[in-house]
Amino acid sequence: MDFEQLKQRFDQAGQGHVFRYWDELPEIEKAGLLSQAAEIDLVELEGLLDGAETGDGGSVSDLEPAPYIALPDDLHGDLRWKAARERGEDLLRAGKVAAFTVAGGQGTRLGFDGPKGTFPVTPVKRKPLFRVFAEKIRAAERVYGTSIPWLIMTSHANHDATVAFLEKNGFFGLPAENVSFFRQGRMPAVTFDGKILLEAKSSIAMSPDGHGGSLRAMVRSGIFETLRSRGIEVISYFQVDNPLVRVIDPWFIGFHSAQGSEMSSRMIPKAHPDEKVGVFCTWNGRIDVVEYSDLPEKLARATDGQGRIRFNSGNIAVHLLETSLVERVAGSGETLPFHRAKKKVPHLDDAGERVSPSEPNAIKFEMFVFDAVRMAENPLILETGREDEFSPVKNATGEDSAETCLRDQLKQFARWMRAAGIDMPVDENGVPAIRIEISPLFARDEDSFREAWKKLPRKPEVRDGLYLE
Ligand code: UD1
Repeated sequence: MDFEQLKQRFDQAGQGHVFRYWDELPEIEKAGLLSQAAEIDLVELEGLLDGAETGDGGSVSDLEPAPYIALPDDLHGDLRWKAARERGEDLLRAGKVAAFTVAGGQGTRLGFDGPKGTFPVTPVKRKPLFRVFAEKIRAAERVYGTSIPWLIMTSHANHDATVAFLEKNGFFGLPAENVSFFRQGRMPAVTFDGKILLEAKSSIAMSPDGHGGSLRAMVRSGIFETLRSRGIEVISYFQVDNPLVRVIDPWFIGFHSAQGSEMSSRMIPKAHPDEKVGVFCTWNGRIDVVEYSDLPEKLARATDGQGRIRFNSGNIAVHLLETSLVERVAGSGETLPFHRAKKKVPHLDDAGERVSPSEPNAIKFEMFVFDAVRMAENPLILETGREDEFSPVKNATGEDSAETCLRDQLKQFARWMRAAGIDMPVDENGVPAIRIEISPLFARDEDSFREAWKKLPRKPEVRDGLYLE
């Protein structure tokens, strides 16, 4: 679309000010501004400004905790879990599953300069998050004799750095043709009265449209079509921040498939009422996720008859998405709702001066992938162990930081080793005194560790810095 056409559309939408400085811009900056403006769907934006489409609303008094399938006491003895595992393994062998990492976040809380997936996270080798996931995928490929495509969603800000990092590292052993990247979409920030903000004379204040934007970005990029043509039916979705995640989980895939679910999620019991995880609820007869910031304090603190947290079902952001759901939600019919957040957005004021506000001055729009749960047929929630699957790196210090994540990895490795009969002293919290690391290529869980250890012709000395691959 050329400048005149775009300008006319923006004028009609009351957003013509975006081109206020057009005449004074050098050609190259004009091109940049045009391309940003062309990215904006003015009809969608107008709908949002009218409040027609929003993730908010409804009455929280109707919320009930969502039902879920609990972890059995004896995972191996439980016939239902065994059957699920076999079913999941069949789907994996048949090549029906892809892995998908959302890595478009800005990692502001961590204060790390670079894409979060490049953050060194493991105890001995200091492997970056992306390498941990790649090795988990390679391990699953080996076990199931299959090939698992890996999709990575980036943002405009980190796309080039992410691609360059994986290329430089040879995709950590995965075939290049099996790793696909796509950028997530962006939305403009608007003032409280709906005007698009400029961050510079030639640039609109745009920001990522949330991980919910991943579904339509996947379709728009053409990658979804490629997946379909490869026969993929299930997309295993996880966040870039959690190295403990079971990237490929046969139990989960099996339960998902047996129930004919279009979207399944793993949950953990919340550690405490204030834990910053969304909560699975039932709302108007549908399963839904209420984000931690939206759950009224009274409900967050409510307990059941036995003193346990009532809204206990924490969302660890591990989902299985059926391709049929992605197609529907990312298509032209239903779309995920946008959530609004009031933010401080630096911008140009009316005099063309750049201001950095000290109070929120603008609205940003984001979609959340978990809103797709309520659009899914037969959604399923499956419990998992926190110690097995969830220790995200979100903050620079304190809860969910690099330090807690390191500790949780060490605890997991020590647990596997002790279960295999190895002498591994730990403190009262289960943390070993020495640094050890087990590559996903050596073992994926307690059982596969026991097997792999048994097969080792010469057992290595258990000492600080032990690395098993
Ligand atoms: C998120 C979930 C929360 C869940 C918790 C589990 C939201 C809104 N909340 O919280 O329900 O319990 O994780 O750890 O997501 N991302 C993008 N593009 C974006 C925004 C985020 O790719 O535009 C990715 C990030 O790279 C990250 C993930 O989404 O992998 C989560 O984003 P983040 O903002 O860190 O969510 P949390 O508030 O931690």
